[in-house]
Amino acid sequence: MLEAQKHRRMQNMKCYAYIAAFAVFQTIIILVFALTVLKIKTPSVKLTSVTVDRLNSATTPSPSFNMTLTAEIAVKNKNFGHFKFDNSTATVSYGGTAVGEAFVPMARAKARKTRRMNITMEVTSERLSGVTNLSNDLSSGTLTLNSYAKLSGKVHLMKIMKKRKSAEMNCTIAVNLGSKTIQKVECE
Ligand SMILES: *[C@@H]1O[C@H](CO)[C@@H](O)[C@H](O)[C@H]1NC(C)=O
Ligand SMILES: *[C@@H]1O[C@H](CO)[C@@H](O)[C@H](O)[C@H]1NC(C)=O
Ligand SMILES: *[C@@H]1O[C@H](CO)[C@@H](O)[C@H](O)[C@H]1NC(C)=O
Ligand SMILES: *[C@@H]1O[C@H](CO)[C@@H](O)[C@H](O)[C@H]1NC(C)=O
Ligand SMILES: *[C@@H]1O[C@H](CO)[C@@H](O)[C@H](O)[C@H]1NC(C)=O
Repeated sequence: MLEAQKHRRMQNMKCYAYIAAFAVFQTIIILVFALTVLKIKTPSVKLTSVTVDRLNSATTPSPSFNMTLTAEIAVKNKNFGHFKFDNSTATVSYGGTAVGEAFVPMARAKARKTRRMNITMEVTSERLSGVTNLSNDLSSGTLTLNSYAKLSGKVHLMKIMKKRKSAEMNCTIAVNLGSKTIQKVECE
């Protein structure tokens, strides 16, 4: 009879051990889920390539330039849900002054995917007022432009969670005026 009791107690202990192990396992699964899938990361955006469609520059009678650039942007979304962003504008600036812009149409980057799209930048020195170092840059043959954009949108998770996030781009574009090509594109 004592033997039978001991045996039953052992069985119970085993059963509790299984329950405890299962609870620990569940907790780990939930933690991993919360720390990976449910963690909302800020999407990123950068210029992956830029090409010159049209470019004019002159040093006389006054230093000036105008050009059309086609840029491919890549919106990288590391979330386990899609990132939908609104219409926005990428600004092109020279020496801190806006000299052009490009329309970035609303779109969505699927879960854990990179959305690429081409945008057209119209750039002209007409907007520059006052004296800048333009004539120096033009005679050096390289023009350095900056392109900034903020894509505001929402990350959607599992149809129930939504969180406002915006992807920011800040890139430097070096344009070779002589060969009318892009020398360098660098994003932060
Ligand atoms: C800008 O473009 C227009 C037409 O596209 C052209 O007539 C003008 O000369 C250009 N300006 C410069 C500074 O290149
Ligand atoms: C976004 O831009 C497109 C194309 O210009 C326009 O048709 C649409 O109404 C815009 N959407 C919003 C929400 O502004
Ligand atoms: C953007 O334009 C380039 C050159 O025309 C092309 O190779 C590329 O496939 C385009 N990208 C997209 C996403 O349309
Ligand atoms: C113009 O360029 C020169 C040399 O490249 C630099 O020393 C100077 O600070 C620049 N001036 C302005 C106003 O940017
Ligand atoms: C973009 O980056 C440059 C330096 O690389 C910085 O000086 C500038 O303030 C940045 N622009 C914005 C809008 O963050």
